[in-house]
Amino acid sequence: MAGPTIDFWQSRFDSGNLPWDRDVSNPQLKQWIDAGMIHPGTSVLVPGCGRGWEVATLAAHGIKATGVDYAPGAIAACQAMLQSEGLDAELIEADVLNLQLASPVDAVYEQTCLCALHPDRWRAYADQLHSWIRPGGQLFALFVQAVSEESAQGFVKGPPYHCDIHAMRALFPSQYWEWPAPPYPRLSPKTGFDELAAVLTRKR
Ligand SMILES: C[S@@+](CC[C@H](N)C(=O)[O-])C[C@H]1O[C@@H](n2cnc3c(N)ncnc32)[C@H](O)[C@@H]1O
Repeated sequence: MAGPTIDFWQSRFDSGNLPWDRDVSNPQLKQWIDAGMIHPGTSVLVPGCGRGWEVATLAAHGIKATGVDYAPGAIAACQAMLQSEGLDAELIEADVLNLQLASPVDAVYEQTCLCALHPDRWRAYADQLHSWIRPGGQLFALFVQAVSEESAQGFVKGPPYHCDIHAMRALFPSQYWEWPAPPYPRLSPKTGFDELAAVLTRKR
């Protein structure tokens, strides 16, 4: 299978080499919560949750958070954070490309899971997102802008793989997803890769 393997990610957690990890929750998530766009009682899935800063933030706000990651080191780190903060959230150790939910969630918070997957996997992942979110539910997305010299020449380079907005429109077409009008907020985290923040609504 093209792209990074579970061993690649687990080795990152084993060595503590986590260049994507911002050591805090993404401020955009807090903004969405403060704006009432994600409120207590709603169910939110966080695929590729890593150490789980955002899972913890959601749980701290009374949101039914579920973190998913296939690296045992990520799940262990997330579990430890939740425990140390006395927070409650469900954690699932699974491959996002195989995960089936018993019932759909109100929303998905997508942060750096898509860009962690080789683009050959993007269609399958987008289909998973569509299947997890109930009709009328939302996809809170941070699309990582990882343009590189190589990607500018046509090479597929990552992770992180560049989530060009045109590719995102093709992955989440307007037939199935309602898009907000641009421009989208652009974040510049210390990880070095900007993110475009967009909230999509599943139409059907
Ligand atoms: C770049 S890290 C981002 C972690 C977290 N979202 C953050 O922003 O700190 C990507 C995460 O996705 C997980 N991941 C990658 N491919 C996955 C897959 N197919 N299924 C489940 N988790 C996956 C990795 O183990 C890793 O924890």
